[in-house]
Amino acid sequence: MPITRRHFLSGLSALTLGAAGAGLAGPGRAAGLVLEARETSARILAEPTRGLMSYADGAMPPVLRLRQGEPAQIAFRNSLAEASTVHWHGIRGPVEMDGVPFVTQLPVQPGQGFDYAFTPPDAGTFWYHPHCNTFEQLQKGLNGIVIVEEAKDPGFDADLPVLLRDFRLDEAGQFTTLSTPRNAARGGTLGTVMTANWQVDPALMVPTGGLVRLRLANTDVTRVHALYLPGATGTVLALDGHPVEVAQEFPDAVERALLLAPGQRADLAVLAPASEGLGLDIMTARRAGDRRLFRLMATGASRTRQLADTPVLPPNPLSPLQLDGAEKLDFVFGWSPAGTAEGGSDICGETGVRFWSINRIAAAADGAPSRPLANLKLGQSYILSLRNETQNDHPIHLHGLAFRLLRSNKRPLLPQWTDTALLRAGETIEVGLVADNPGEWVFHCHVIEHQKTGLAGSLYVGA
Ligand code: C2O
Ligand code: CU
Ligand code: CU
Repeated sequence: MPITRRHFLSGLSALTLGAAGAGLAGPGRAAGLVLEARETSARILAEPTRGLMSYADGAMPPVLRLRQGEPAQIAFRNSLAEASTVHWHGIRGPVEMDGVPFVTQLPVQPGQGFDYAFTPPDAGTFWYHPHCNTFEQLQKGLNGIVIVEEAKDPGFDADLPVLLRDFRLDEAGQFTTLSTPRNAARGGTLGTVMTANWQVDPALMVPTGGLVRLRLANTDVTRVHALYLPGATGTVLALDGHPVEVAQEFPDAVERALLLAPGQRADLAVLAPASEGLGLDIMTARRAGDRRLFRLMATGASRTRQLADTPVLPPNPLSPLQLDGAEKLDFVFGWSPAGTAEGGSDICGETGVRFWSINRIAAAADGAPSRPLANLKLGQSYILSLRNETQNDHPIHLHGLAFRLLRSNKRPLLPQWTDTALLRAGETIEVGLVADNPGEWVFHCHVIEHQKTGLAGSLYVGA
């Protein structure tokens, strides 16, 4: 079934409780949102998949639409048979709302709830997911896209969020072994069925000749996508929620494929095909042969928009970096020195193994470190050197703060604010950040098997 903007909005309004028409237009739209985690089943292959987890019945979790600078309130209810939390990936909110068990809050037990409230400072594409038993809950589908709309509508003809995820299903559509230690100690366990918005190779409708904002979110636990759209014209608007600063070539061929690692998002402006019924393919490159993830199908009368109409997104309100004399902090992502597990919480799914470490310390599962890796002074700028001494790729994610890509020892990097940076095997990247949000912020690899087996820690920002 084609997913249209209206479709998403009606899905969302079903979740909206409280004040009449806690509507989607106008102030207060975010007030009264309820997110209920539950087990469900849905049709991904021919047979319904049982044991999925979602914040909706029989369907993908809803796309939440918040507005920049406006307070949002989301009441979380846990109707799963296990503990959970909600983390707002990329949103620079207050630490009490960050959803990290034992660091920012207690796990939310079955039958219990937690009220999340924050005002998103940045517009862009973000996502939400549990931070407790994260590997299994993510694998089972428990995560959705959060759109924070710009204060002023940039004026696209369509706004199309697409959640990318691979499910590990057998031919009958049922979950198979989610992880093996062998994979967890290497690149991570890949899924078997690629989906876009929980559908295999769907056709998503876009207005003929229209200017489309395509919001891609890689919510996969393992796969680094290399995305391209053969024959398409357009531009990259934003990466990981932050508008690009240098015009970026559109990924229209595999040689220019856009790498989108677990946790990362890309907003693309695409000119829809000029005649109704024509399609555009969104491809992902793989060693085993490139695959189409979904198509954009033109529908309706032509709008004959031009690429020149593409708006420039306003920058987000980030504190300026003061790199002169900034203190440098070193982080090494490596193997676990011991391989055995200490601490950790069974409540949130302790794996009992440690394969990975940051600065030789292997954290307990779900990013509950015993003490922060570094203490940062509120308001100061820092340069972080992120060194990957392993043979695998690690998308390194920091909660609560945005950081800016400065340089790599392996490849040219464009300046970009982000919350998740892909470190290739053997690569060192330097990033800059301003420690402007107080609290203990977890810092981990977003290949969740790595996170769950040691590749996690935290930075503390205080006075
Ligand atoms: Cu996307 Cu610690 O999370
Ligand atoms: Cu996060
Ligand atoms: Cu990793």
